[in-house]
Amino acid sequence: MKDIVDRIYERQNIEFEEFKEIMNFDEAQREYLCEKARERSIESFGNYIYLRGLIEISSYCANDCLYCGIRRSNRNAERYRLDKDDILECCKMGYGLGFRTFVLQGGEDGYYTDAVMSDIVYSIKNLFPSCAVTLSLGERSRESYKMLFDAGADRYLLRHETANEEHYGRLHPKNMSLKNRKKCLFDLKALGYQVGCGIMVGSPYQSIENIYEDILFMKELEPHMIGIGPFIRHKDTPFRDFPDGGVRETLLLLSVLRLIFPKALLPATTALGTLDPMGREKGILAGANVLMPNLSPVGVRKKYSLYDNKICTGEEAAECSRCLRRRIESIGYRVSETRGDYGQINIHVNDKES
Ligand code: SAM
Ligand code: FES
Repeated sequence: MKDIVDRIYERQNIEFEEFKEIMNFDEAQREYLCEKARERSIESFGNYIYLRGLIEISSYCANDCLYCGIRRSNRNAERYRLDKDDILECCKMGYGLGFRTFVLQGGEDGYYTDAVMSDIVYSIKNLFPSCAVTLSLGERSRESYKMLFDAGADRYLLRHETANEEHYGRLHPKNMSLKNRKKCLFDLKALGYQVGCGIMVGSPYQSIENIYEDILFMKELEPHMIGIGPFIRHKDTPFRDFPDGGVRETLLLLSVLRLIFPKALLPATTALGTLDPMGREKGILAGANVLMPNLSPVGVRKKYSLYDNKICTGEEAAECSRCLRRRIESIGYRVSETRGDYGQINIHVNDKES
């Protein structure tokens, strides 16, 4: 067992047979894998964790992804959107709390035309020049991505969801395609964004072969960030009766990804914290190095309901930020005060003992 882990550690690559074996690890074996993943994480980032303030800007969505609680067909979903002033207000609050990255995430909402969105991005960068802006607004045209990049956006998160055509087709309506999703990711990268892809672990119909294909796709894309969290069912979606994804599987995959992508930004996600009260801490101890506290106004949080029982929907931004800082310190890590850009974040490494 140790051989496999050590081999992946050295080679930064994994064969399918090795991956299959790892996904069957028992707890003691997982602990060794975790240790090696933590070692890599500390090498790249010291014991620093990077915080990204998440602002959920809209629950309107033109898409109908079968897993998602804010899908167009969900008549029970409560819809809201934040305008420029609301968003700037969240950023002000976040800046005061020490955040230097704002992630603007939302459904595919036609309100945010290129002109509207560019103005929002430009205004944030103008008011907070030391901060990074990450967008997560789904599929747009290359021209649109270019405009937003020119307005100052630094990063873009677009989970590919699965790299397998057939599996993609089972998670999405017919008008969506994996081909376009991948094209978006390569366009974003070519334009100069720091790019994040990712998947839900345990999504309906997902096989272990599918996850291995995801790893191969990631090797091809070479993303700067990889967002993975367990699938969690939502009561008003066609996937309401599917089981939730596993915390154990998510942690195993996080560790594998850390070994293969030593410098990638890997968040311990809210979905992981939703299925296990210590999920985010366990994620960090498995090799993750990013947390994304919620900065959305409390009044709208419950409406950004992607899955059932989502945590942090009642807390003020300041509470979430305090809570996460405490959690990070309780496991011997520290919060970085920097923007935490890919490739530039090992500036802390030399003072990791201090
Ligand atoms: N519209 C943008 C997009 O599609 O990338 C951003 C918002 S979308 C809601 C963000 C992510 O939430 C998706 O990429 C998906 O992986 C995740 N998500 C949606 N429904 C989920 C569920 N039921 N369980 C876990 N994660 C979910
Ligand atoms: Fe939001 Fe703990 S992180 S309340």
